[in-house]
Amino acid sequence: MTPGRPVPPPLAKPLPDLTEDTTDYAETTAPGPRLAAAYGSTASDSGLVPLTVARRAPKDDDVEIAIEFCGVCHSDVHATRGEWGNPNYPLIPGHEIVGRVSRVGSAVDDFTPGDLVGVGCLVDSCRECDSCLDGLEQYCENGMTGTYGSKDRRNGDATTQGGYATSVVVDRRYVLHVPESLDPAAAAPLLCAGITTYSPLRHFDVEEGDVVGVVGLGGLGHMAVKLAKAMGAEVKVFTTSESKIAAARDLGADDVILSRDEAAMRAANRSIDVIIDTVAAPHDLNPYFRTLRVDGALFQLGLPSGDMPPVNPGALIRRRIAYAGSLIGGIAETQEMLDFCAEHGVTSDVEVVRADQLNEAYDRMVAGDVKYRFVLDTSTLGTPSERADA
Ligand SMILES: NC(=O)c1ccc[n+]([C@@H]2O[C@H](COP(=O)([O-])OP(=O)(O)OC[C@H]3O[C@@H](n4cnc5c(N)ncnc54)[C@H](OP(=O)(O)O)[C@@H]3O)[C@@H](O)[C@H]2O)c1
Ligand SMILES: [Zn+2]
Ligand SMILES: [Zn+2]
Repeated sequence: MTPGRPVPPPLAKPLPDLTEDTTDYAETTAPGPRLAAAYGSTASDSGLVPLTVARRAPKDDDVEIAIEFCGVCHSDVHATRGEWGNPNYPLIPGHEIVGRVSRVGSAVDDFTPGDLVGVGCLVDSCRECDSCLDGLEQYCENGMTGTYGSKDRRNGDATTQGGYATSVVVDRRYVLHVPESLDPAAAAPLLCAGITTYSPLRHFDVEEGDVVGVVGLGGLGHMAVKLAKAMGAEVKVFTTSESKIAAARDLGADDVILSRDEAAMRAANRSIDVIIDTVAAPHDLNPYFRTLRVDGALFQLGLPSGDMPPVNPGALIRRRIAYAGSLIGGIAETQEMLDFCAEHGVTSDVEVVRADQLNEAYDRMVAGDVKYRFVLDTSTLGTPSERADA
């Protein structure tokens, strides 16, 4: 393992200066913007309700996508329920999008109608800061544009709306090619859960001989197990759910530890090189630091809404342990991850749900009752013309 592996160079061709983009949305008529059927929240306590959303007509660099599946991430729950602060409602979540290209703008030559494509957590960034130029758009110094709930810097400051919808329009630079060998529903969670776990594993250059710990066996956690195994690592899973012990082994885990079993936690002392912590709620990290070897690292990926118990500096100091965070991945790295998954036959274990099951899916996910990712079948959203509010 060699921490700090550089990410692949950005995929995008040389970019025009922002000021060269003179398309006026209001003037873009043929073939015109389209209305999409969607599900979203209108308030933190509204639950998800049927909505419609106007998607812009594709500009020169845009790709319009007929969405087929969208994964349901715990971040969607945090965001729509206002757990990370009050968003602009209505809010249509969804950032694990897979679908087929339906229309492209005149300058798009790397996507054609019919292509299987994906969109993850970001749909734009400033394109000129050091992070963007290094292929680290997720760390854009001027703020990445999230797939939902962000100010759309190139679209009259509208709020972006996500993938629980029948279509979306995204600049080609932020659209991924999904290999045809991957099942589209099972590939959708790769766009967030996959890349979010792949990126720190690759940053740490995990390979055969390394021991990876995965804390929390949900959407992100089960992808971390599969990806770390595909990279050749030995994997230990830490779970709070007794019911997931056998399932974790089925996923490929070499060892499964019930995190409330103190004896089992002690037995794992100094056995792990890197931990991927995916827990969505506040929890004590100190017992996990004790399972790391000298120069080990713990990447915290979960972003709980409540305060975490304090980290004991002594636990870090005594073994030169790094306590780190990591945010999704850049566009080129996301493409690399999709190609890696095609090569190694890695996809998510999914439970496909209808739109009218989304609220129940949220509650079940919060209760830890999903193996391992709900995915919305967007054909169940209906059409905008069927909507009273269309
Ligand atoms: N850093 C990033 O870029 C990024 C990207 C996507 C998501 N996230 C964040 O990562 C976290 C996990 O997302 P996810 O979609 O994988 O969630 P998830 O499917 O709900 O999985 C979270 C897992 O955490 C464990 N857990 C233990 N105690 C829990 C508790 N009190 N409440 C909830 N979960 C508990 C559970 O695993 P066991 O049953 O095995 O204990 C659960 O399955 C969320 O906070 C999400 O917002 C971060
Ligand atoms: Zn997500
Ligand atoms: Zn930037």
